[in-house]
Amino acid sequence: MKILFVCLGNICRSPTAEGVVRHLLAGTDPRLHWVLDSAGTADYHTGDPPDPRTQRAARARGIDLSGLRARQVQAEDFQRFELILAMDRGNLAELNAMRPPAATASTRLFLEFAPDSGLVDVPDPYYGGEAGFETVLNLCEAAGRGLLAHSSAVA
Ligand code: 4NP
Repeated sequence: MKILFVCLGNICRSPTAEGVVRHLLAGTDPRLHWVLDSAGTADYHTGDPPDPRTQRAARARGIDLSGLRARQVQAEDFQRFELILAMDRGNLAELNAMRPPAATASTRLFLEFAPDSGLVDVPDPYYGGEAGFETVLNLCEAAGRGLLAHSSAVA
């Protein structure tokens, strides 16, 4: 599976999703080859590491995001990845608007894999308090587990 996680800035939600899914994969069959990355629809933070609040919340759960650097979604991503998972409907709309004619990737909402969450969008934590970063982690863990279960069912 080749999966790209996408949010707005690529410093809060999508790096969390990438790190959480990588962490969940550590306990699975190593013969399953996964390529994971994350990107933002905006370029405000290109080259930046994840937000310090994002890194701190993830580190408390044993997930190191310090090596990640933000980048913007590129047209090539639509061929390089099989699945592009947007953190919210706004970012999904952006992705679908920039989808090139040669695209092969499916674009979907990450929380489709966490139907029990009752949410459609991963709430943007950037302008809020610490609790928002815990919510992002909880949602990414739930959707990440759903994604792995779905992928092993279709493999
Ligand atoms: P993200 O959060 O999309 O989850 O990375 C945000 C990061 C930065 C900004 C907005 C949301 N910003 O406006 O700079």
